[in-house]
Amino acid sequence: MRKPIIAGNWKMNKTIGEALELVNSLKELVADVTDVEIVVAPPFTALQAVGEAIKGTNIKLAAQDMFWEESGAYTGEISPLMLKDVGCQYVIIGHSERRGYFGETNETVNRKVKAAHKHGLKPIMCVGEKLEERESGVTKEVVKDHVVNGLKGLSEEEMLNTVIAYEPVWAIGTGRTATPQQAQEVHQFIRELLGEIFSKEVAEQVRIQYGGSIKPENIAGLMAQPDIDGGLVGGASLKADSFAKIVKFGRSR
Ligand code: PGA
Repeated sequence: MRKPIIAGNWKMNKTIGEALELVNSLKELVADVTDVEIVVAPPFTALQAVGEAIKGTNIKLAAQDMFWEESGAYTGEISPLMLKDVGCQYVIIGHSERRGYFGETNETVNRKVKAAHKHGLKPIMCVGEKLEERESGVTKEVVKDHVVNGLKGLSEEEMLNTVIAYEPVWAIGTGRTATPQQAQEVHQFIRELLGEIFSKEVAEQVRIQYGGSIKPENIAGLMAQPDIDGGLVGGASLKADSFAKIVKFGRSR
């Protein structure tokens, strides 16, 4: 019922030339995939070129962040209008690296999520606990705080056009993936929360991605869980063959 969504977050990697090489290989490898929504999130400087290269294919374009204002004196920022202009359909909001290194808070995440909807961009809102939070047993409190405050003021319709990415910070770029059971437990918790905030019907339709050291070897076990609807992939999305394998859930089909 929920169409799986696999997104590649390229982070601060790839010049325009490198980005084109990657996406041109990728589009051939995944050309036959129809049952998974495929998204790539290149750095801002490569958005336009990648957007052109994937026109007419089954790959969609995302940005890795944006500001909430439409235009103005905000040096260094990128607006939702600019992202629409280059063909973005999705935008990642509140990635833990933005929260950790660049001062993103639940409040700024919420403003960005709302601005994305105002302009018809679908946000992929990232939530997740740090290692010390998991070890001290407050994972659910942290995730609840991110979910409840990040989604504040959204209509049901907007919620249906939002993707949530559960990314335990201790699993990102560390090679230490959450087990399918650990991930499923939090995904189920998030879906229950969505049921409380919105409705059971909405909660059943929202897609919740897992992120953190996804590889071709571990994607199948994650995707077999009932509440895991896709992945947000960092390192393994930088090579066309590994990302294509992940898109195909590690199987050759
Ligand atoms: P990783 O990154 O796959 O390299 O762990 C995931 C992410 O940060 O979205």
